Amino acid sequence: MALLEIENLTVQFETASGWFKAVDGVSLSVNEREVLAIVGESGSGKSVSMLAVMGLLPWTAKITADKMLFQGRDIRNLPDGERRKLIGKDMAMIFQEPIASLNPCFTVGFQIEEVLRIHMGMGKKERRARAIELFTLVGLPDPAERLNHFPHQMSGGQCQRVMIAMAIACNPKLLIADEPTTALDVTIQKQILDLLMKLQAEHGMGLIMITHDMGVVAETADRVIVQYKGRKMEEADVLSLFEAPKNPYTRALLSALPENATGKRLSTVSDFMASGEFAGESR
Ligand SMILES: Nc1ncnc2c1ncn2[C@@H]1O[C@H](COP(=O)(O)OP(=O)(O)O)[C@@H](O)[C@H]1O
Ligand SMILES: [Mg+2]
Repeated sequence: MALLEIENLTVQFETASGWFKAVDGVSLSVNEREVLAIVGESGSGKSVSMLAVMGLLPWTAKITADKMLFQGRDIRNLPDGERRKLIGKDMAMIFQEPIASLNPCFTVGFQIEEVLRIHMGMGKKERRARAIELFTLVGLPDPAERLNHFPHQMSGGQCQRVMIAMAIACNPKLLIADEPTTALDVTIQKQILDLLMKLQAEHGMGLIMITHDMGVVAETADRVIVQYKGRKMEEADVLSLFEAPKNPYTRALLSALPENATGKRLSTVSDFMASGEFAGESR
């Protein structure tokens, strides 16, 4: 059974000139332990499709789908209470802007402990210990000390580590990472991607990696969906996509990859990974 199965998802927003289809008939599925990348340029409906799945779009959005199953269970029109139980626990999301995604008014310790209190029903001592454990797991230095910090006292990369710790706090089965490294420095990007991939493998999570960057796809994905203007252009396993892209739009995205010193296009994942061009170092 697929972890998440979506058929014919459409999301529309009302505009001055009528309904605008931000997502137009997208189908996808993710299995346990699988990394699915959704790639496409800005505005192609990547975030909106996953926000629809999470139930995080404003009520004015018109969402339709023939199927929306999480572990075989219909998650369309879930009552709010049921949705809150699912989201943040079995299904968690990491957003593009780590600093903006945290509440500036509370310490990061309070924020992660709230997740543990609400979803896991943990008492004070237990959540503090677990918060320290989680901060250690995501590689935050001085984790106990760090709990007392406010988001603005930390760097973007550190805030993203906090977001990741919060997302995995309740051992989700599915993690959705929405351009988790886009707002970060290139050197930090690689560290955060490596961390996500390590946690995904260790915890056996399904992961949906949203990105506009084919380099990130090459680094992370098992399977890829290429999306453009709300529509699915192509779906393939990662090697087939890089070696024999079928859709012209996919080829255009691939041609935006860095070229090596001789100017020759890096055409395969293995060449690309071996080149060490991505984020300045190879695995
Ligand atoms: N709340 C909203 N109201 C109206 N339009 C929206 C809203 N959210 C996103 N959009 C529009 O939907 C389209 C897809 O957006 P998005 O999913 O954020 O793109 P991506 O994540 O691929 O960059 C864009 O044209 C965006 O302007
Ligand atoms: Mg987006």
